[in-house]
Amino acid sequence: MTTMPPAATASAMVLGDRWLDITDPDVYRSGVPHGTFDRLRREDPVSWWDEHDGGRGFWSITRYRDIIDLNRDFKTFTSRQGIRLEEMDDEALEARKTMMEMDPPEHTRLRRLLQGGFTRRMVASYETAIRALATELLDDVLRRGRIDFTVDVARQLPLRMLGRLLGAPQEDYDWLVAHGDAMIGNADPEFTTHVVDQSDTEQFRLMPFRSPSGIELFEYAQRLADARRAAPTDDVVSQMLAPTMDGEPLTDLEFNNFFTLMVAAGNDTTRYSMAAGLLALLDHPDQLERLQEHPEMMGSAVEEMLRWSSVTMHFRRTATHDVDLHGRTIKAGDKVVLWWISGDFDEAQFPDPFRFDIAREPNDHLAFGRGGPHRCIGEWLARLEMRVTMEELLSRLASARVVGPVERLRSNFISGIKHLPIEVSLR
Ligand code: HEM
Repeated sequence: MTTMPPAATASAMVLGDRWLDITDPDVYRSGVPHGTFDRLRREDPVSWWDEHDGGRGFWSITRYRDIIDLNRDFKTFTSRQGIRLEEMDDEALEARKTMMEMDPPEHTRLRRLLQGGFTRRMVASYETAIRALATELLDDVLRRGRIDFTVDVARQLPLRMLGRLLGAPQEDYDWLVAHGDAMIGNADPEFTTHVVDQSDTEQFRLMPFRSPSGIELFEYAQRLADARRAAPTDDVVSQMLAPTMDGEPLTDLEFNNFFTLMVAAGNDTTRYSMAAGLLALLDHPDQLERLQEHPEMMGSAVEEMLRWSSVTMHFRRTATHDVDLHGRTIKAGDKVVLWWISGDFDEAQFPDPFRFDIAREPNDHLAFGRGGPHRCIGEWLARLEMRVTMEELLSRLASARVVGPVERLRSNFISGIKHLPIEVSLR
């Protein structure tokens, strides 16, 4: 029996038996339609959804086990036709291709080139720098007493960290976060004047996320690459530009795409996970109190925040041949969507999934993907940023409460709390 969460959590979830259109970005403004995903898992685990914006429709995979199995089988469920719902022709696919839109063995070459900077061991060495950034930021903003946690804290830290890792000058950080937001928030009018399903974006169809900010980030990446090639340092960018193990260096297009991917993938994901994590704690005061009394539980608490938020809600694959699954036939060429956010609330995997439990163990959530070759490269960095920020925040707080409307991103792809107004009193 699934336990529905207490009423206070309604700010982040839409429950109940009503069928909601999981393709509609406006639906997510009221919260993740968990009630619908819950029914899908039970009644229709491989369901067909039409799209309203000219898309050809897609299959939704909502059970934990199926998601992992399909994600692992990259020969049957390829990433090469794109990992978002958007339909792309071959020209756009080629121009916008990053490692996310590749299968092994092509994918393996790029992955190897980058992952060195993001291993658990490497990332652990950034902790002092991350803690210094978090401390400086929190000491500055918490004094105000009333803050928008997303904008004032969660939006600032991942980008500053990433900027430092990528060797971007400090004065460029605000520009980078604004352009990253415009690009990945391409369906939300707060972040872009070129809303993909509401304005003509044809001229940007070769740009990442079909967004004009993509081209500016491309040009920025090119300048950064030119500077590093002229004078290599030991940062991640120089590492990316170094020849690969087989001696073949990255092309400019590959690098520019990759840089843009970093800004998109490593920025708002961590931001929104932090915001959702804090909201979950405020919605569950017993868990917050427990964590403040036992800060050594922060590791498992962060995992539960990641499961609870699953901010990258889905990735798409495309079937390469016909497959039968749970009585349905997925045809070659069909779009197949793996709903991480749904798998993370599958009671077959997570007992009492709507209970927010900072001690949950095991907690093999899907927030970073699982089973396939594309598992998030930034997972250790994201975990470290969340842990350090929460440790520093909770050690300063005597109390905190939500004091205004919690506003969410208009997107069926990223589950984002754009505004989290809170009032804090300090210890
Ligand atoms: C809490 C924050 C984050 C979440 C929830 C998240 C989520 C994800 C997910 C679900 C995937 C796809 C996994 C799959 O297809 O199997 C992914 C891939 C990826 N993520 Fe993250 N991510 C986060 C933070 C980051 C950070 C900080 C970076 C880098 C600085 C990053 C870089 C990437 C890259 C490059 C990929 C593609 C890997 C590949 O194609 O091999 N992510 N992420």
